[in-house]
Amino acid sequence: MVNHRRNSHIRNPLICNRKPSFLSITAYVILLFALSIFVFILYSKDILEDEQNKPLPVLEKLKPDQLGDDQLWEASFSHGLHPCVKPTSKYKAAQVWDRYITVRSNGGLNQMRAGIADMVAVARIMNATLVIPQLDKSSFWQDTSTFSDIFDELHFIKTLQQDVRVVKELPKELQDVPRVRKHFTSWSGMSYYEEMTQLWKDHQLIHVAKSDSRLANNDLPLDIQRLRCRALYHALRFSPSINGLGKKLVERLRSHAERYIALHLRYEKDMLSFTGCTYGLTDAESEELRIMRENTNHWKIKNINSTEQRIGGFCPLTPKEVGVFLQALGYPPSTLIYIAAGEIYGGNAHLAELTSRFPNVVFKEMLATEEELKSFSKHASQTAALDYIISIESDVFIPSHSGNMARAVEGHRRFLGHRKTITPDRKRLVEIFDRLEAGQLEENSVSHLVRQMHKNRQGALRKRGGAPSGIKGRARFRLEESFYQNPYSECICRSKDTER
Ligand SMILES: *[C@@H]1O[C@H](CO)[C@@H](O)[C@H](O)[C@H]1NC(C)=O
Ligand SMILES: *[C@@H]1O[C@H](CO)[C@@H](O)[C@H](O)[C@H]1NC(C)=O
Repeated sequence: MVNHRRNSHIRNPLICNRKPSFLSITAYVILLFALSIFVFILYSKDILEDEQNKPLPVLEKLKPDQLGDDQLWEASFSHGLHPCVKPTSKYKAAQVWDRYITVRSNGGLNQMRAGIADMVAVARIMNATLVIPQLDKSSFWQDTSTFSDIFDELHFIKTLQQDVRVVKELPKELQDVPRVRKHFTSWSGMSYYEEMTQLWKDHQLIHVAKSDSRLANNDLPLDIQRLRCRALYHALRFSPSINGLGKKLVERLRSHAERYIALHLRYEKDMLSFTGCTYGLTDAESEELRIMRENTNHWKIKNINSTEQRIGGFCPLTPKEVGVFLQALGYPPSTLIYIAAGEIYGGNAHLAELTSRFPNVVFKEMLATEEELKSFSKHASQTAALDYIISIESDVFIPSHSGNMARAVEGHRRFLGHRKTITPDRKRLVEIFDRLEAGQLEENSVSHLVRQMHKNRQGALRKRGGAPSGIKGRARFRLEESFYQNPYSECICRSKDTER
């Protein structure tokens, strides 16, 4: 994966051109003192937990314009954190098992990636050899890509050598052996899969029909959690051609601007139709979306009240709302914004409401030549992989809606050292937008409110969220924060902890 992080610029604000007066020096000293107390309080929690790390240099924070820049672009909370995925000393190398698991991975790219990482862990728990998974060809995205079209297959096998034996295909003599087809129960833990090893008494081959969310987020042994991280973040590398182009596109973005935002603008036809979100659309568009929903069999909910969806915070932000949001956060109009998404519904008609505020909006089609993109067209998973790479490498990642891509990118950025991810609080934002629209709020107070509201929604280190209180039984597992959205603390360590 590409890696182009710039160091933040440290300038000494005490060196300036004008001759400082006595008064201004006094003011500086007082300011310095106040700031150091502030910074001390801010970081004292970290200092207690992590003596090796000094608090951030105070001087760096003084210059007002840089303070703004820091707030916009830097993940100030990232110091002293690093990925940690090495197994513990109790972990044993993989053994060769003459039992096999085949998998059909379902969903879009990011659902499949997480599912495959889970299946690696399941194969390990069940002492099985894993056959390279088949990818979903029948989902909404209708992509015929195979595993090796999207991922570096050899790298996958080699990286997991010590963990699980992975083979390209079933041995010849097993191809006609009867296999048990198994739908493993979603969000299962160790004991479930240990029990499932009973299947080996009668079978040599298990076929897993679905790979998404088969493994619980929590309460798994540390070594299993770290194996999931090794599988997802190290073993599942994109194929050389995808990685190569992704890297090139990131370089091209960087040649336009020092920093960029990757915006997962999930304002696509399928999403709007599925969620029934028609706010701001014409009657004809709303009708088109309704018909699409009516005709899509696997979308079970047909009658949707768009207003209620929106008020509930279940709608993706519209291009206009994203524009107001970014402006309120303080991003200047010249900000370079990469749109990590498919086709925007309504095309320029809707997009214009974002570009009128932020003209430097780019799509992959503007960065890459037709020739370069040729092999990617008709392969939604491969284009999604490009978006993924560019989103991981961005200075700031902003998803306009929740979903597998948003979760995967946020988690990966946390893992890689807490790059900034700003998650809009859509429910409360909609309230603000409506009050702004009704003339009940000034732009200034919008800005203040929006910033306050998103102070703690920037991808900082925190405990993985549990299910909302009061929820009992298995439903709880589904509502926990996903392990891959927040692999802390198992796969992210502070400096004093072991290894990198
Ligand atoms: C799986 O292998 C481990 C050793 O690696 C062994 O301790 C365990 O009993 C095995 N489990 C099964 C179900 O065979
Ligand atoms: C949708 O919900 C809103 C708010 O609850 C309500 O005012 C409106 O009448 C509903 N629309 C329809 C068509 O039911």
